[in-house]
Amino acid sequence: MKNIVILISGRGSNMEAIVRRCAAEHWPAQVVAVISNRAGAAGLAFARERGIATAVVDHKAFASRDAFDEALAKAIEAFAPDVVALAGFMRILTPGFVQRFDGRLVNIHPSLLPLFPGLRTHARAIEAGCKVAGATAHFVTGDLDCGPIIAQAVVSVLPADTEVSLAARVLEQEHVLYPRAIRWLVEGALERRDRRVVHVGGESQLLGPR
Ligand code: GRF
Repeated sequence: MKNIVILISGRGSNMEAIVRRCAAEHWPAQVVAVISNRAGAAGLAFARERGIATAVVDHKAFASRDAFDEALAKAIEAFAPDVVALAGFMRILTPGFVQRFDGRLVNIHPSLLPLFPGLRTHARAIEAGCKVAGATAHFVTGDLDCGPIIAQAVVSVLPADTEVSLAARVLEQEHVLYPRAIRWLVEGALERRDRRVVHVGGESQLLGPR
């Protein structure tokens, strides 16, 4: 059994999707902990209801980014993780932290990377006149939203789309994409070749377009 630790800052709908798929599809893994940097993160309640261990490491309680990352890393390591999944975790992590979990640290970003790293991805896609948008599951490296891509989901940008409607359609795909990427990781089905990530069984790493 592999151990999955999920980091959240808020709603936690991706975390919820991972927990549900892990149980429903009988992955060779379990979500052992959900850790948040905000005590008020809504997702913590879902984790508690499911009997999953939760922890809060509040970034505001630390004088420096290094001190916060050290405390966070210790909290994570207490659960002996094979996978550490960022799921709407709104802190930039130090290179030391990223290095410590290299190969085990993954993220979901709501754009077709390398387009639109950072915030306001949906608004920026609409403003740029993009006809497609989507989400990317990727390994985390030292560069923000730039790690090797595990899988991507593509959705159409419709003429009437607003930031809100596009975000909702992309989020639906995130809930399929991210659990799938994490499942592949716990199954040992991913091979990293420099910047490229390949599914060894040849499963499609592209979802959609929808
Ligand atoms: C998602 O859109 C995710 O891609 C981004 O932050 C959002 C988190 O949503 N990184 P949730 O907390 O998983 O509901």
